[in-house]
Amino acid sequence: MASLPHASADDAAKGSAAHGEIVAKRWCSACHLVASNQALANSDAPTFASIARKKQASKLKGFLTDPHPKMPNMSLSRGEIADIIAYIKAIDK
Ligand code: HEC
Repeated sequence: MASLPHASADDAAKGSAAHGEIVAKRWCSACHLVASNQALANSDAPTFASIARKKQASKLKGFLTDPHPKMPNMSLSRGEIADIIAYIKAIDK
């Protein structure tokens, strides 16, 4: 892909990792270890780093749109889901 001078529609669809971090810390950190500097998490829930390693973005989106029974239904907006996925993908480096 040639690099374009302006943000493409693809970039917009990727969401904002910075906002995703805020959402994750607010809604997910009670159970998941969402950042490496976080001290406490529920040991049943996988860390975001391990989720980043094994899940594809497309699967994450499906998972978050239709919540897992062990997780509360958080009614995340599409934008919040895109942002969280961007954040999880940013951890996986
Ligand atoms: C009340 C606790 C709780 C909260 C809050 C929570 N989760 Fe979870 N989550 C879990 C548990 C427990 C599992 C493991 C489910 C299992 O193994 O069946 C899980 C699994 C997941 C998985 C799937 C991991 C995999 O490998 O299949 C993803 C993705 C995920 N959570 C994302 C999130 C995101 C994003 C948020 C915040 C918007 C969040 N969770 C908030 C408890 C929680």
